[in-house]
Amino acid sequence: MFVDMKSVRIVTTIAELRAEIARWRDSGDTIGLVPTMGALHAGHLSLVRQTQNRCARTIASIFVNPAQFAPHEDFDRYPRMLESDAEKLSQAKIDLIFAPTVAEMYPKGFASRIDVDGPSVGLESDFRPHFFGGVATVVAKLLISAMPDFAIFGEKDYQQLLVIRRLTADLGLPIEIGGGPIIREDDGLAMSSRNAYLNAGQRKIAGHLNRILSETAHRVCSGKTIAAAETQARDELLGVGFDSIDYVAIRDAVTLERIETVARDARILAAVKIGGTRLIDNMAV
Ligand code: PAJ
Repeated sequence: MFVDMKSVRIVTTIAELRAEIARWRDSGDTIGLVPTMGALHAGHLSLVRQTQNRCARTIASIFVNPAQFAPHEDFDRYPRMLESDAEKLSQAKIDLIFAPTVAEMYPKGFASRIDVDGPSVGLESDFRPHFFGGVATVVAKLLISAMPDFAIFGEKDYQQLLVIRRLTADLGLPIEIGGGPIIREDDGLAMSSRNAYLNAGQRKIAGHLNRILSETAHRVCSGKTIAAAETQARDELLGVGFDSIDYVAIRDAVTLERIETVARDARILAAVKIGGTRLIDNMAV
């Protein structure tokens, strides 16, 4: 199906996506891909701009990927707003939207799954064991369908970015994977489609996550041990009103392995819950 919504082209099948890309390739254009699940905000749009700066043609994919949600998670209530997303992408002057159906991405009989080890181990996987398998499978399929020169992912999902870099290298895909900086609200809260789930009181508490991570990073740089800083961060997060903490961890920024000191590049990463909403954030230490 070929839809024309708000003047941006939307294709829904891999065959149409490939046909359009083939035309661009014939004219020598470079291709960039920005994979998303929609409900677009300024974070997604910054990835679009960075891709447009590097590539002649930029494609955004919009697909709420069932394979990366566990049965108890928010797949059904995840915001779906293709029309307003198309409007935003049209204003951003994107060249094409790829918005496949679940049946297009996972046709009857689909039985493959890509599992990445290495950077997938721990952190998110301890709490969402199904997650990176679902992400790796859909991202591999998106990358192979479009075969772009460049694809970009946000540092907001830092572990995901490392997993996708590993996957791309391991499968030998000739695609450069870029990482985009985290775009934040005025109080520091990382923009996320899931922030829409927060009520006013929860939204206020959510703003403390970034501040506490930043203060924790500074404490470690000023000599506090990693274990003591992580414990203090947990206490502070619970103190300001988060309901539970999946993890607050300072890890090697490249391998995500545990570290004793911050001799090399380190990253602080956290996942916390407030009401039924799970928020993640991270930053360089
Ligand atoms: P989604 O959550 O829609 O995010 C799409 C991309 O936008 C991801 O690369 C994510 O890291 C990036 N992003 C989200 N919030 C951001 C922010 N505040 N600043 C900068 N970048 C931000 O992540 C996914 O979708 C999916 O897992 C996907 C990779 C599309 C596979 O289904």
